[in-house]
Amino acid sequence: MKMNKHLLSFTAIAAIGIAIVTFFDLNRDNTARAGIDITNQKQVALGKTLYAQQCAVCHGKNLEGQTPNWRQPLPDGTFPAPPHDATGHTWHHPDKMLFDITKFSRSGGSKNLPPTTMPAFKDKLTDSEIWAVLSYIKSQWPLEIQQRHDTLNKHHHMSK
Ligand code: HEC
Repeated sequence: MKMNKHLLSFTAIAAIGIAIVTFFDLNRDNTARAGIDITNQKQVALGKTLYAQQCAVCHGKNLEGQTPNWRQPLPDGTFPAPPHDATGHTWHHPDKMLFDITKFSRSGGSKNLPPTTMPAFKDKLTDSEIWAVLSYIKSQWPLEIQQRHDTLNKHHHMSK
């Protein structure tokens, strides 16, 4: 009887221990994926493939955008796909906004902007695939731009 009690509490403590470890492990896994992470080489490599398949047709094979005149509206009133390299304004936006534009397109957020041809990828890419594409895009920016984007992200998180 005494033995059993000990065994019971030992098992309970072990179970709690495992639960805690699992919890932190899962959490670590989530933070590794939810967010742009250019140090995760697997994610960046996956993003490169996905970018070529899903984004390059509009945003350019080398992130250069649809046209050098991407700030000029097209005859139908929509805008061309902007570059995702350092010459564009993608890097002026925090992670969350880039994620939302990719997942839901732009129309959900802003009503005062003209119609967009940017498709929503919510049915084509999983959340972690979207983070992978964005990680690839960021990995292509010069170090200085990456650092400015890091700073922008930090300020964005603090103001929330
Ligand atoms: C059919 C063409 C097309 C495809 C494919 C496409 N985009 Fe776009 N994207 C656009 C257009 C057009 C805009 C400009 C939207 C606007 O302001 O009207 C845009 C804008 C964006 C923006 C906002 C950039 C900024 O500076 O504000 C992001 C981020 C973006 N696209 C990411 C992606 C990603 C990631 C993919 C691939 C998974 C992708 N797009 C695929 C056409 C496309």
